[in-house]
Amino acid sequence: MKLSNKIALITGGTSGIGLEAARLFRDEGATVIIVGQNPARLQSAASQLGDGVTVLRGDVSKSAEIEDIVRQIGEKFGRVDVLFANAGMGIAAPLESVTEDQVDTQFNVNFKGVFFTVQKVAPLLAKGGSVVMTTSFLNEVGSPGLSILSATKAAVRSLVRSLGAELAPRGIRVNAISPGPISTPFHGKLGLSEKQLNEAAATIEDQIPLHRFGEAEEVAKAALFLASEESSFMTGSELVVDGGISQL
Ligand SMILES: NC(=O)c1ccc[n+]([C@@H]2O[C@H](COP(=O)([O-])OP(=O)(O)OC[C@H]3O[C@@H](n4cnc5c(N)ncnc54)[C@H](OP(=O)(O)O)[C@@H]3O)[C@@H](O)[C@H]2O)c1
Repeated sequence: MKLSNKIALITGGTSGIGLEAARLFRDEGATVIIVGQNPARLQSAASQLGDGVTVLRGDVSKSAEIEDIVRQIGEKFGRVDVLFANAGMGIAAPLESVTEDQVDTQFNVNFKGVFFTVQKVAPLLAKGGSVVMTTSFLNEVGSPGLSILSATKAAVRSLVRSLGAELAPRGIRVNAISPGPISTPFHGKLGLSEKQLNEAAATIEDQIPLHRFGEAEEVAKAALFLASEESSFMTGSELVVDGGISQL
């Protein structure tokens, strides 16, 4: 068991990569707390994961809501050993039609949400703790229509280094997993039509050297590695799990 006696908080734990990580971390002995906002997905995750996993509602783009979640965790568990700051979303739009609101929404969830999650959880993080953030292959690859989403993830990549440096003196490691295109509900929420999604999926599949989308479990395994002592000498780094799309 790689996470025995560990308390793990996973934001975006109600779906896709976060949900698979919640399952895996639980199976590896962790006490798992997940955060999401959509009521149907919260309920579905709770019934899939069972009583051992604590499910909390909150919007990570609002720092007051993160504060409330962290207060509940502090009262019930007293500390956090693993923080997987994974909640994220995207809106696809070409240069000419990106709106100010779309920029704010994506930065508020993907960047501000991650930053304030780490800030609010930091006082509860124990020595030897591990923070894992979710970036994206879009840090490295230019993709039409995804300029703002990509920029939010590049900002998170930067945060891994800065907060890694700030937390290192406390013995807390900070790393990222960088997924490639993964089969999760994420793509269905980008605001594209079914036809656009299918066309984009076919084009992307061609560009992935392994010629397939990844599975959420494959990313969850990499997150487990970074969360656990197996990666004890790693901090400030980004572990790429992308079928080679950003590397080959
Ligand atoms: N799938 C990919 O191809 C891919 C590639 C690269 C990076 N990523 C990154 O991987 C991470 C996980 O995505 P996924 O693929 O697993 O997508 P997903 O299935 O859509 O899951 C996203 C999770 O984030 C949560 N979330 C979104 N906005 C939130 C908010 N404001 N407050 C709280 N929770 C929020 C969602 O909860 P609700 O449903 O309740 O909103 C959900 O649990 C994201 O950071 C994404 O950018 C994904």
